[in-house]
Parts: sequence; structure tokens; C-alpha cells
Amino acid sequence: MYSEQVMDHFINPRNVGEIENADGVGQVGNAKCGDIMKVYLKIENDIIVDAKFKTFGCGAAIATSSMSTELIKGKSIHEALKLTNKAVAEALGGLPPVKMHCSVLAEDAVKAAIEDYLKKQGRTE
Ligand code: FES
Repeated sequence: MYSEQVMDHFINPRNVGEIENADGVGQVGNAKCGDIMKVYLKIENDIIVDAKFKTFGCGAAIATSSMSTELIKGKSIHEALKLTNKAVAEALGGLPPVKMHCSVLAEDAVKAAIEDYLKKQGRTE
């Protein structure tokens, strides 16, 4: 049911953990399943130099957190804001339809962390 990439990122998730004094932190939850994802970003000159996550959730939520943090590292915050849940799922070789909502959590957590960074700086974009 899961692609090899999903299994790989679930079993060996990249970027698990927290960043102390993170420049942006975003936490989102899915009301239906109760899963929670928290993303921490280190940002220098609007470039994401490090990203970590903590996910209390299903395997697809862990795999998509892992992949999304990999995809945004080294990107500008504006590029990262364009990351869609579909792109994360595609990078993982696809997700079963019933698991697509898990990838939405990853997109939303990244966006929430960037918005937190902008808010801390008194910016809107
Ligand atoms: Fe809740 Fe996957 S079942 S995020």
C-alpha cells in the first residue's frame, strides 16, 4: 500500500527533533485523527538553513514531515511557501488516497512555521 520512499522516510525519518531558538515554529493538528505536527526552522536572510520536526502521528504523517523538511532546506521562505502537499506526496512516490490528508498537515506546518518567522519580524511577506 505504501511506496518504498514512504516506508524509507517512515522507518528512517530525516530531520527529527527540535531546533533551539528556532526562528520560526509551526504546529498544526488534524481534528479528525488527532495527529499533531510541529516544524522548527532556522532561517538566515530568508533562506531556510535548517528544518526539524516532531510528529505525533501516523506513518504517512511522519514520512511527509520528513520529506517536506528535506525539500525546504536551502530554499528561500518564498519558495518554501509554494510547497504543496501534492508535491510532497509526489516526492514520496505517491500516497494512498485515504492518506493524502496527512500530507496536508506537512504543508500547513511548514507554512505556519514561516508565518511565525515573519510575524516575529513584524513582516507579512
Ligand atoms: Fe492523522 Fe495521518 S492519520 S495525519
